[in-house]
Amino acid sequence: MRTPFISANWKMNKTVDETAAFFKDFIPLVRDTEGVDIVIAPPFTSLHTAATMIKGTNINLAAQNVYFEDKGAFTGEISPVMLSDIGCSYVIIGHSERRQYFGETDEVVNKKIKASHKYGLDVIMCIGESLQERETGKTFEVLKRQVALGLKDIPATNIVIAYEPIWAIGTGKTATTEQAQEAHNFIRRELASLYGGASEDIRILYGGSVTPENIDALMGCPDVDGALVGGASLKAESFARIVNFKRS
Ligand code: PGA
Repeated sequence: MRTPFISANWKMNKTVDETAAFFKDFIPLVRDTEGVDIVIAPPFTSLHTAATMIKGTNINLAAQNVYFEDKGAFTGEISPVMLSDIGCSYVIIGHSERRQYFGETDEVVNKKIKASHKYGLDVIMCIGESLQERETGKTFEVLKRQVALGLKDIPATNIVIAYEPIWAIGTGKTATTEQAQEAHNFIRRELASLYGGASEDIRILYGGSVTPENIDALMGCPDVDGALVGGASLKAESFARIVNFKRS
């Protein structure tokens, strides 16, 4: 059985004070939640505050990016060693915004995953097609490439996949449950060809305009094991409702 996994991705949002205010409201709302891995990825500047506030709770901390070297002359970058040290147990790698605006390739994604694993971080690897790729029938080709290159020489453990169709991110246009299930099932089969039976234990999250209104139906899809949530994760009540989903 795959434990459901719900992660917030705050992107470039929230100051330190706003982070503290969020946790003050959020922690009591999920205190009794069981059987779900709850993860929050604040910006780097809020990691310390978040790590302090979640001590002793059922909430885990993720970073939104990492560099693949452990230290050195890489101005502006943050290493996996530093993320572990500050209290992260996860890191998001290959988000479409990083691929699109910061030129992150599948090869870079692969190096970042290896470096993160080396220092004990679990990885949430994001993949997904653009609108143009979907409309020209390239969705499965893109997903196949991103899985194969991103996971090259990487074991089946300590990895979570997030399927995020780019056209659904921040647009209010969620994939239908049929589209999500179809893509997730395709990804699961690709993972099976890489890892055999071990692929059955890998969580595949859906991301792209997830809300309290659509989470229950998405979680009802057999191959949707959780969600990566942007906009709707910024408010404590809204994200708590998503974490406390009821499969339908
Ligand atoms: P969204 O973002 O929920 O605001 O669409 C999801 C993501 O990019 O991870």
